[in-house]
Amino acid sequence: MRIVLLGAPGSGKGTQAAILTEDLQVPHISTGVLLRAAVEAGSELGQKAKAVMDRGELVSDDIMLGLIEERLQAEDAKGGFILDGYPRNLSQASALDVVLERIGQPLDVAIQIDVDTEQVVARIAKRAQEEGRSDDSEETVRKRMQVYQEQTAPVVDFYADKGQLTRVLGEGTIEEVNHRIRAVLQTEA
Ligand code: AP5
Ligand code: MG
Repeated sequence: MRIVLLGAPGSGKGTQAAILTEDLQVPHISTGVLLRAAVEAGSELGQKAKAVMDRGELVSDDIMLGLIEERLQAEDAKGGFILDGYPRNLSQASALDVVLERIGQPLDVAIQIDVDTEQVVARIAKRAQEEGRSDDSEETVRKRMQVYQEQTAPVVDFYADKGQLTRVLGEGTIEEVNHRIRAVLQTEA
């Protein structure tokens, strides 16, 4: 299965991908996780990305494309993948299509996880207290939401226009959301 998970910050992309990766036995590829690992490692990429992430803005398309292209060509992604956090704007969405066509792995489905803004803000506030992710401060979260509305929301229409989009309600318990996603994947299989 080749899946893109879409949704606002805090909508549950990472949480759901972590469950699906076990069920489907395909890797969970989160660009946020890859970037945070680069920051942690202190690599050149990480140093460039940190300030951008802490402002809640998007890391450049060139850097992201290099990162995702390399990851998608790894051996473990040959049988499918769950993408979380990529693509995040229309240019990334087009670039991803080109890469996937070139490696002969076209997307099966894009799933948009819909959660009310107040709920995602509350979830992130809770995570900020529990985990202290450096971009979960109130100011940065506001910026991430704005970037999502302006740049990432159009990606939902991009996949809808191609007939590849399914929307799932991301409210309720983690298990309830997972059941809804599984139901979508069953119709795709
Ligand atoms: P990224 O790491 O992708 O962050 P994000 O999209 O803002 O999303 P989050 O990880 O905050 O939320 P999520 O949807 O994964 O939700 P989660 O499962 O954690 O990106 C971070 C930054 O990296 C970006 O701002 C950008 O700078 C850069 N970046 C990344 N990709 C990029 C790209 N392609 N291009 C350019 N820049 C890029 O859930 C949130 C919380 O809610 C958790 O605590 C969870 O336990 C809880 N929760 C989940 N589900 C439920 C539920 N059903 N009920 C109650 N709580 C729940
Ligand atoms: Mg995440």
